[in-house]
Amino acid sequence: MTDIAQWSQEAEALAEAVIAKYPQKRSALMPLLYIAVREDGYLTESGMRRVAALVDLEPAQVSSVATFYSMYKRQPVGKYLVSVCTSISCWLLGGDEVLEAVESAAGVPAGATDESGVVSPEHVECIGACGGAPAVQVNYELIEGLTPQKATELVEWLNAAQPETLNGDEMQALFGGQRSFDWAIHETDSATGPYPAFQPHGTVAPQGRS
Ligand code: FES
Repeated sequence: MTDIAQWSQEAEALAEAVIAKYPQKRSALMPLLYIAVREDGYLTESGMRRVAALVDLEPAQVSSVATFYSMYKRQPVGKYLVSVCTSISCWLLGGDEVLEAVESAAGVPAGATDESGVVSPEHVECIGACGGAPAVQVNYELIEGLTPQKATELVEWLNAAQPETLNGDEMQALFGGQRSFDWAIHETDSATGPYPAFQPHGTVAPQGRS
């Protein structure tokens, strides 16, 4: 008997609402995987089976989608996932040094989580902010133009302040440098955890919408 995750009432209601948006249930697969991550902290086997049951797919079909995308974490991560881009533009402008600074400040290498479960550094491929290289995301909130020194300060701040939500614009002002576009639309919503948000879920607006 394989076990299937039990979700909270809130998660079940959200899943039902997401499924109702699509003509075919299976089209809801990816946002449902996000709900599974949010429920368990990462994408568990039982969570994938819950999703499979909801969209009438085989668990192997769900797994084949989930394992394609590195953003669906299949291991626990810390409270803050610090993703450092090391692709070409960022690499040319010091992305490797920024990653080293993050690893050093966290005390663990990319792919690991510190002992307190606070910071998980990782290196990622291009995150679409090449004009603001080197670029970093914390819980998928973007900061551009970091120096190694600012990256160190960022990790120290995460450890000391441990904010419940993270906002890219606020972190940009504290730790960032040159942005891709100064005229870019400002990010008012903040991240609520180490997972990519499917708006309007997984983020919180200044007035508290979640
Ligand atoms: S190369 Fe780093 S954001 Fe594109």
